[in-house]
Amino acid sequence: SILIVDFGSQVTQLIARRVREAGVYSEVVPFQSAEAAFARIKPAAVILSGGPASVVDAGSPRIPQAILDSGLPMLGICYGQQALTEQLGGKVEKGDSGEFGEAFITVEDGCALFDGLWAQGERHQVWMSHGDKVTALAPGFRVVATSPGAPYAIIANDERRVYAMQFHPEVVHTPDGAKLIANFARHVVGLTGDWTMAEFREAKIAEIREQVGSGRVICGLSGGVDSSVAALLIHEAIGDQLTCVFVDGGILRQGEAEQVVSLFRGHYNIPLVHVDAQEQFMGGLAGVTDPEAKRKFIGKTFIDVFEAEAKKIGGAEFLAQGTLYPDVIESVSFTGGPSVTIKSHHNVGGLPERMNMKLVEPLRELFKDEVRALGRELGLPDVFVGRHPFPGPGLAIRIPGEVTKERCDILRKADAIYLEEIRNAGLYDAIWQAFAVLLPVRSVGVMGDGRTYDSVLALRAVTSVDGMTAQAFDFPGDFLPRVTTRIINEVKGINRVVYDYTSKPPGTIEWE
Ligand code: XMP
Repeated sequence: SILIVDFGSQVTQLIARRVREAGVYSEVVPFQSAEAAFARIKPAAVILSGGPASVVDAGSPRIPQAILDSGLPMLGICYGQQALTEQLGGKVEKGDSGEFGEAFITVEDGCALFDGLWAQGERHQVWMSHGDKVTALAPGFRVVATSPGAPYAIIANDERRVYAMQFHPEVVHTPDGAKLIANFARHVVGLTGDWTMAEFREAKIAEIREQVGSGRVICGLSGGVDSSVAALLIHEAIGDQLTCVFVDGGILRQGEAEQVVSLFRGHYNIPLVHVDAQEQFMGGLAGVTDPEAKRKFIGKTFIDVFEAEAKKIGGAEFLAQGTLYPDVIESVSFTGGPSVTIKSHHNVGGLPERMNMKLVEPLRELFKDEVRALGRELGLPDVFVGRHPFPGPGLAIRIPGEVTKERCDILRKADAIYLEEIRNAGLYDAIWQAFAVLLPVRSVGVMGDGRTYDSVLALRAVTSVDGMTAQAFDFPGDFLPRVTTRIINEVKGINRVVYDYTSKPPGTIEWE
């Protein structure tokens, strides 16, 4: 395995992801506990992450001596490069300006990192983000790539098998970065790259058993992939020490509540408490039109209902959540500075503090597509695992204006037709997310010989890599007219359908 020492960069988990993609197991540990982890894990190599500190400053983090003395291969990234250089006898200085964003490096010489990838003289795009820089190499190192702002863009000590770079290979803005990391794992370290999700599953199961012991765990199911995968994994680990609670607020898509219940109770035989809280949700949403007020109410009500159920069950000291890595970074601000709340996502936070329970979050280091792979590994059906993302506040934030049961039912019907047509056209997997929005606008129409005055429905479909940015999906010519006709004919209450072409930014994916 590879040990990743985290010096506090916002993107350290992406390094772990790239290592997993290369088929190698890795563990991320904070620099403070790196020495102990190194002794425990006995890795085959170490990657040193970036971080916000400056090695020039007194008291800034250092690489444990035991790691430096081990003779194992190392890869230093940004701060990792600076710490390596400083500790091995080179020099690092504070830059007065720094270098942020896209840059181009020139390959000056060959090295094992470039095997089958880069050749001397080529220029390649990378993503820089650094203030300090290396100004003198440590003994035994040579320069293998340069950029105008970073004469030591990539350095190598072949004999020690230590490599280091000023830029971030783990982010997508360094197009060949994943391959550089894979080359480190396979060519430099010599790992075979045959690690799979099956092993992640086994490792997590062992970890959950160790954390929970003979304790009881409650898991809130949302109907989505993340909480379902978390619950299945935990159930494999501790069996009936787990109880799942499904709070049904009446804001899921068509058929989803039934699907969750039959999947868990019927297929997996996992104890599931199904709480029908529709009245409480619809009652509280009456008259609420402000998007944030809706989100807050729904978040709070989920917690209230869940807490009441947990009390009835009693005796649980652990709370399981399907928190993913993007939830974690989105809920601390990405820049580290003060950030504006665009929307209050309510998946993370609040609940554990209030309930005074310990958290079990087995998916915390994974990204969405990895959770899907794990779900398949656990035997979840493809249609379930491959479902588009769905927000916690559900249909309520797809009904601008007041949410009522009647409007939820109308939206559910229209949305189901839209998704059915998308599946029939074979387009479902080409789209990140597709859904309908029931607008608080009525328009005049004519059906048969009669005048209609009904609601307008907006259709939305976007492509995206991670939900942070998105582009409107371009349907083939006859698709939207066909769906429009079906929806207007089959769903009472809708007489006009429009398509939303807004990208993100400036729009967001959801309307509220
Ligand atoms: P926006 O609308 O912010 O959405 O562009 C980005 C992605 O996040 C989803 N989303 C949520 N997911 N709880 C969630 O689990 C929420 O409160 C929430 N709000 C938005 C949205 O569907 C899209 O995939």
